[in-house]
Amino acid sequence: MFSTNTYVERRQKLAEQVGSGMILLLGNEEEGMNYADNIYHFRQDSTFLYYFGINQAGLVGMIDIEGEQSALFGDEATMDDVVWMGSQISLKNKAKNVGVTCVAPRSQIASTLQKAQSKGQTVHFLPPYRAKNTLKLHEWLQIPVKEIKNETSVPLIKAIVNQRSIKSDEEIAEMEKALNVTADLHTTVMEVTQAGVLEREIVGAIQGIAVREGGQMAYPIILTVNGQTLHNHYHGNKLQKGQLVLGDFGVELESSYASDITRTFPVDTHFTEQQKAIYQIVLDAQMAAIEAIRPRISYQEIHLLAMEVIAEGLKAVGLMKGSVEEAVAAGAVALFMPHGLGHAIGLDVHDMEDLGEDFVGYDDTIQRSKLFGYSSLRFGRKLQAGHVVTVEPGIYFIPELIDKWQKEGRYTEFINYEALENYRNFGGIRIEDNVLVTATGRRVLGKPIPKTIEEIEALRKTVTS
Ligand code: GLY
Ligand code: MN
Ligand code: MN
Repeated sequence: MFSTNTYVERRQKLAEQVGSGMILLLGNEEEGMNYADNIYHFRQDSTFLYYFGINQAGLVGMIDIEGEQSALFGDEATMDDVVWMGSQISLKNKAKNVGVTCVAPRSQIASTLQKAQSKGQTVHFLPPYRAKNTLKLHEWLQIPVKEIKNETSVPLIKAIVNQRSIKSDEEIAEMEKALNVTADLHTTVMEVTQAGVLEREIVGAIQGIAVREGGQMAYPIILTVNGQTLHNHYHGNKLQKGQLVLGDFGVELESSYASDITRTFPVDTHFTEQQKAIYQIVLDAQMAAIEAIRPRISYQEIHLLAMEVIAEGLKAVGLMKGSVEEAVAAGAVALFMPHGLGHAIGLDVHDMEDLGEDFVGYDDTIQRSKLFGYSSLRFGRKLQAGHVVTVEPGIYFIPELIDKWQKEGRYTEFINYEALENYRNFGGIRIEDNVLVTATGRRVLGKPIPKTIEEIEALRKTVTS
């Protein structure tokens, strides 16, 4: 939690940018997992956290721009709540900590909004991503459920994206706290993982350490010997020598800022020669992309630069052929990397994706590519100091995709399909770091995590064989 002033200033700035009307920001509710009282872990809405900072279910924030006042709506704990959940800090006191003196019960929300509308104020709200919040908007603003997404406020979305995209020093400090725990986790996993264990044993240990550190995972753990499946959440395989392990996981601590790191390492003490060659290409692409980060260059250009390094490398090992420039322009290299180079990260692992990917990652000057793979680039914008992005190139051998493209005769001038026969069981490699754009360049956030072949093999050399 930041100082009172931080929240007051954030709300003032938002009000100035939106200009007029009533801003309505919905916190999240508890959600039943298999019945109402057996709940999922509570995660507050990130925009609510950014402007109102209170990590508690059942709250609604309003900023009356003309009235120059912020208000919080929520109910104080009842004696029943105290019996079941222990004594509670009053909502009034929590509100005071974030500079809000106007606190009212939930029963007053609908009438407050109706009063604002009858005064001619526009009620600005965001696209809801949880059913309960959709129903609240329907009830309070009398908008048919199907119409809600068309009635969300574009000026509000754009103002929030502008503000949340640029991270302050205090936000960076929180991100680095999370990253430092994540760095230790990745290093430990690379140090102790042995052949014969199940993926889920490692997953359990990671989750346990995150909880021990007072946090939780920022997104579901990817820990797999089938790294070619991009978001692989199956954890039942037994690790065997010769395989690669791809671990993509990051924690969020009390402040809820996310970290998102990937490392890939051999189950054995060493990479095979084939693995080494592909790993080095991914690492070269990642280092070149990080090196290119600076204000004013677009992330779309850096994505293409990474694709070029990958195409060069794959040509050198005989998997691609012909002109690298043409292969990249045509989208052929997306067979090996069918995702974007990275995304914005902050309070959300894919920051503000609930507000709309294109509002966050694109603008009038940079349009999303329509090519397969490239179109998955979530963030293509011109970079500015204060942006934080992930840099996560990969090379994957997806047998089904290779077979489909080969059968369709796609990009035969650029792809050496015969040579790919030797890679069908390779899996996938991804290397991911979180990078701050600075006034003059970039800074990789958090403690360094081993990623060169030498550094990883040095960690692996002590595992028992
Ligand atoms: N961890 C999910 C991603 O990298 O997008
Ligand atoms: Mn990522
Ligand atoms: Mn990731």
